Amino acid sequence: MFELEKIIRPNIKRMKPYSSARDEYKGQEGVFLDANENPFNNPYNRYPDPLQNELKSKLAQIKKVEPSQIFLGNGSDEAIDLLIRAFCEPGKDSVLSLSPSYGMYQVAAETNAVEFRTVSLNPDFTLNVNKLKEAIDSSVKLIFICSPNNPSGNRFAKEDIISVLTGFNGLVVVDEAYIDFSSGMSFLSELNVFGNLVVLQTFSKAWGLAGIRLGIAYASPEIIAILNKIKYPYNVNVLTQKVALEALHNLKQKENWVNTILIQKEFLIQKLRSMKVVEHIYPSDANFILVKVAKSEDLFNFLIDKQIITRNRSKVALCEGCIRITIGTEMENRILVETISDFEDEYLK
Ligand SMILES: Cc1ncc(COP(=O)(O)O)c(C=O)c1O
Repeated sequence: MFELEKIIRPNIKRMKPYSSARDEYKGQEGVFLDANENPFNNPYNRYPDPLQNELKSKLAQIKKVEPSQIFLGNGSDEAIDLLIRAFCEPGKDSVLSLSPSYGMYQVAAETNAVEFRTVSLNPDFTLNVNKLKEAIDSSVKLIFICSPNNPSGNRFAKEDIISVLTGFNGLVVVDEAYIDFSSGMSFLSELNVFGNLVVLQTFSKAWGLAGIRLGIAYASPEIIAILNKIKYPYNVNVLTQKVALEALHNLKQKENWVNTILIQKEFLIQKLRSMKVVEHIYPSDANFILVKVAKSEDLFNFLIDKQIITRNRSKVALCEGCIRITIGTEMENRILVETISDFEDEYLK
């Protein structure tokens, strides 16, 4: 059975968090002489709300969760790092994930001297649940499952992820960075069912806000309290909180962007399907497609020469000969297709 008390690192459990000036006084109005700020240059002279209460309250309403179930950080990458630091003892515990998947799980684990293990996906990028469960031993404290997965683009079956959640005594982190582009359901609806579930989402993709660096972890209030205890006090700056709040008041815009991107994805898939250089397009639940092509290195470099930048995934496990293409605007996608056509004329005569 999952018990949070058993997996939190003892030093984290014992420690007292830093108490910032703005933790101690919560009012908005007053003569602020507590934080050694400059009294001029309002509003940027003031430290941000350390717990981002206004933002969380709006996000909670939209996502149908409690504000206490939300952690906000400097990109999802901050949440990934903090989860490892809170629950994995360096040199002793380990993190388990899938291969291929998002590279930051490994970087964050190894930065913290935590062993990183992977289980290979099947060649069609589906999840082998039995293999994943076999790789669990007492050292594994966290399992990262990216769904829809980067770089393959597919989402995993709900039953498979639930089977991992029920069969594991550590935390299962479901990274849903691309969930807005997916026809599958979000695991947010399972938050009150599984105490060991953490769901990651981000403002970097569907919301069009990669530049402001804002990532979200949803979990039980107890898990969120641990992340809050060890984060930097003012980890989400004033500008980021302001811009994100504006975005949350304009849900329609995000939905329109997602719809446009999905239409463009179909357009691009249709065009690519008829091209000689394209050998396979993997099913995608995301805002990118993984495409197996002939002469992948040559094509990738040809596109670079024309200032069209895709991601060469040829050397990634199970992705031999593949490039990953993010869906752009209609104009950008047309330019891509035309340039691939020029490549075919030159290289596939
Ligand atoms: C699966 C996945 N998770 C997280 C991220 C990063 O999110 P953020 O910009 O919030 O750090 C990415 C970025 O590409 C990603 O592919």
